[in-house]
Amino acid sequence: MPDFLNLIDLNDYPVSWWNGLLSLAHEIRLSPQEYSKACEGKIMGTLFYEPSTRTQMSFQTAMLRLGGTIIGFDNPATSSVAKGENLKDTTKIVSGYADILVMRHPVEGSVKAAALTAECPVVNAGDGGHLHPTQTLTDLFTLTEEKGTLENLTIGCCGDLKNGRTVHSLIKAMTCYKGNKFVLISTDELALPVYIKDMLTAAGVEYKEARDLDDVIGELDVLYMTRIQQERFSTPEEYMRQKGKYILDKKKMKKAKPDMAVLHPLPRVDEIAIEVDDDERAKYFEQAKYGMYIRMALILTILRNNGAPPALIKGRERKGVSCSNPGCITHREKYLPHYFEGNSDILTCEYCDMRTLI
Ligand code: NCD
Repeated sequence: MPDFLNLIDLNDYPVSWWNGLLSLAHEIRLSPQEYSKACEGKIMGTLFYEPSTRTQMSFQTAMLRLGGTIIGFDNPATSSVAKGENLKDTTKIVSGYADILVMRHPVEGSVKAAALTAECPVVNAGDGGHLHPTQTLTDLFTLTEEKGTLENLTIGCCGDLKNGRTVHSLIKAMTCYKGNKFVLISTDELALPVYIKDMLTAAGVEYKEARDLDDVIGELDVLYMTRIQQERFSTPEEYMRQKGKYILDKKKMKKAKPDMAVLHPLPRVDEIAIEVDDDERAKYFEQAKYGMYIRMALILTILRNNGAPPALIKGRERKGVSCSNPGCITHREKYLPHYFEGNSDILTCEYCDMRTLI
């Protein structure tokens, strides 16, 4: 298997690596001119199988600001995917053209699947409802720059905690800094997946669940709002039952700490009233801009390739065992080997992290 610095899951790397990226992003932000030729002659391929504004454009701008160039598609309907080309062939080909691939795909585990046969490093720009590591790097950089710390924070995550990949990645990352606590604010239907709650428990991290934002907003140092992920619901009725349940407005902001930071990966639908935009605690537009600097740091670090690459597969192939998650890439791309971690009768899928009982 190739030895690249892929970024599939931030937790594949030690915290010291994330911190290195944060320092580099800070330097780049202060002196962008010094980095304007750092990736001259390099090409980034962006394969976006799902809609995106910020992630795609901030990656593209990041590469252009580093002096590199970009190729790719943002609508698979205009590529050979529309003719039925599988993930393996598309990524194999484009990774042969580019020096780094950035990929977003609606199916969980798809980016790791692509990395298995890619000929260059692959970055996960969101795989279904699973993970979104570069949004988390953006969030970490925003908190570092705006709050000056990643420790001892009470972080409220509000909205669609079940399908929101940004929240999954953020919680997994913030758990690795000391003293952080989580308040998980959602309806029962959209609660955080059990495997992430188990991870919090195993790490000894304090968390509580709440149904009402009003009841807990006063405790928070950070409020991470998310939209209800309409595209991940099986029926429009199910989405309509959840829509509009959480709306942050001026009235709620009055109950919040004077230095609480409001983050949102964006796009917003209706979960933050426009009137909150003028509150100086609203950091979501700055957050989107921080995303460009941290992605510059990431591209540069990956292309310099002077770290130890994490293993893409840590477990082993289990012939005849099928992942219990119907949304896992292994059910769509049948040629994929079924890799699992674990040695007991509960195995963890290497692509989507869901558990399967055997
Ligand atoms: C997020 C995503 O795609 O998961 N957007 C982003 O990348 N900034 C959040 C969302 O779509 O709700």
